[in-house]
Amino acid sequence: MTVIRSFFAAWLIVVTISSPAMADSREPGAEVLARVVKEAFEKFRDVRDGAPADYIPELARVEPDKFGVAIVTAGGGVYVAGDVNQAFTIQSVSKPFTAALVMQDYGNANVILEKIGVEPTGQKFNSILATQIIAQVSVNPLVNSGAIASVSLVKADSAQQRFDRILSFFEGLAADKLTIIEDVYRSEAATNQRNRAHAYLLFASDRIYSDPMEAVDIYTRQCSIGITARQLAVMGATLANGGVNPVTGKRVLEARYVPKVLAIMMTAGFYNESGLWAYTAGLPAKTGVGGGIVAVVPGKMAIVGFSPRLNDAGNSIRAMKAIEYISDQLGVNVFGSSR
Ligand code: DON
Repeated sequence: MTVIRSFFAAWLIVVTISSPAMADSREPGAEVLARVVKEAFEKFRDVRDGAPADYIPELARVEPDKFGVAIVTAGGGVYVAGDVNQAFTIQSVSKPFTAALVMQDYGNANVILEKIGVEPTGQKFNSILATQIIAQVSVNPLVNSGAIASVSLVKADSAQQRFDRILSFFEGLAADKLTIIEDVYRSEAATNQRNRAHAYLLFASDRIYSDPMEAVDIYTRQCSIGITARQLAVMGATLANGGVNPVTGKRVLEARYVPKVLAIMMTAGFYNESGLWAYTAGLPAKTGVGGGIVAVVPGKMAIVGFSPRLNDAGNSIRAMKAIEYISDQLGVNVFGSSR
């Protein structure tokens, strides 16, 4: 009996000691990743719900039925389906990356906490009400007002240098050269009175840190940067990989800022749908009215969907569906798999 008991005790120890290796071996392999990307694309390719944003006139002219799905892993593996090389404007997907640059510029993630804020608003991305009622701070860097404040904090001696620093930070994250889509920039610059109102509201309560109209212009340029689903997945994979770009091997962001960036993506990345998104996909993510969404599985990968048809909250319908499907299939919900 004693012999049998000690045999089982020894067996248990072996199982416990070997479990980390077993966990690794359960990580999705290349075949699984290629399969889920293809499946997500096939499953939702015919969905035609929603419409491209039209409050920026030029965005109403994009091809509405483009659709791409991409995964880039923390090890640099690339899995794609559909229109993954089609450039679209990054829009609000840019916001967490600029917040990351600000953290790094000041050497302290608290700069975001103290000068902008991190509370989700529960309101739309351009809610004037939210900017007004949360008087002490500009709400969070992922809604328009907080993102404009974020731009104003990027360290620079001139407006040009401020934009150039944002662009080159994004290029480091994407491992590629990026350029502004000029037509969209001009269209938004001519119609962004609401963002100017946000900037003046911030100015009135000392919550913007450069000339307000200059900040709006740089923010508008930042939103107009062209990106493909594949490039965006590399940007996300750099966050998944602790700040080191898995394609270039270069460190772009100090590792200690990554959890802070992901935390605001989790709580505010989908605006008034952030709760729903946490409940369904369970991944830190960011959406944009250009139709892109990047989701990050910490330590593992980024999952990107691109489709210009949006819902009322300004979030891409097919990109949401594709990422939710992949999150569920891979069991990578950060709160635990519900399978
Ligand atoms: O400022 C704006 O309204 C746009 N440049 C960005 C908004 C946006 O992408 C909202 N996200 N879904």
